[in-house]
Amino acid sequence: MEYVRLNDGNKIPTIGFGVFTIPNDGPTYEAVLQALKAGYRHIDTAAAYFNEEDVGKAVKGSGIPREEIFITSKLWLQDHGYEAAKKGIARSLRKLDLGYIDLYLVHQPYGDVAGAWKAMEEAKAAGQIRSIGVSNMSPALWNKFVPGFETKPAVNQVEFNPLFQQKEIRKLMAETDTKLEAWYPLGHGDKSLLTNPVIEKLSKKYGKNAGQVILRFEVQEGVITLPKSTNPERIRTNLDVFDFTLTDEEMDEMRGLDTGKGSHNPDAPGVEEMLRGAFVIED
Ligand code: A2P
Repeated sequence: MEYVRLNDGNKIPTIGFGVFTIPNDGPTYEAVLQALKAGYRHIDTAAAYFNEEDVGKAVKGSGIPREEIFITSKLWLQDHGYEAAKKGIARSLRKLDLGYIDLYLVHQPYGDVAGAWKAMEEAKAAGQIRSIGVSNMSPALWNKFVPGFETKPAVNQVEFNPLFQQKEIRKLMAETDTKLEAWYPLGHGDKSLLTNPVIEKLSKKYGKNAGQVILRFEVQEGVITLPKSTNPERIRTNLDVFDFTLTDEEMDEMRGLDTGKGSHNPDAPGVEEMLRGAFVIED
């Protein structure tokens, strides 16, 4: 496994296992155990995934020392604001039950983000959280919130794949050395990505599948990538991308695939309201 150094000095495994939509009470426990057995050391959950308990149980059940596993979780919108965020952080800590959280993110950047961030900074200072970051920030949302932060975000977790390379937000993030984390890094099964001729050509050249070529591109681009799979073979092979290197020309070819368009636009009218109504996190 390779690591990326964050702007606060902590290091994060460059490939993580995402557990969005995997149910609690069994399936997430099994999936995380399997991922850890396959060699993953970075698990990405959220309060709004409703499976923090299973993630914690799997880490404890794995027999792998806690400090060798990197755990990310995220604060949901209902917990924005300083006092509410303190409760949200305490709830995630209790559900995971792993002593501390490696990385905690503002899951959706709306409402009282400044208050939530202050509570996250305090939890970081208290050692409950090691690194803090944001998610789903477009350039407009970044400019609205981040200049007022005392601690600059370690990461911004956004949709990213070769067809949607987020060039604008990456320019802003470079100014604070904020690393990009990719959700939907394989285009969420988009066939036009997986069968793209450039990717098929590289796939043949290196004897790797399309997913592995895409993940290799992302790793070489300095992106922390969170592929999702429920297939044991792909869970394993998606980690097997450290034994080949794309050339500079091939990286440029991959960069040329960007269309500038993805599936999620955080600035679109109605998105905030839709997300606010999407989940209720209970104690
Ligand atoms: P499966 O669960 O059957 O492996 P994303 O991470 O962008 O959301 O993409 C997840 C989708 O991509 C899932 O449908 C997953 O299906 C599929 N997938 C995961 N790994 C690969 C791979 N190496 N090649 C092709 N498809 C993959």
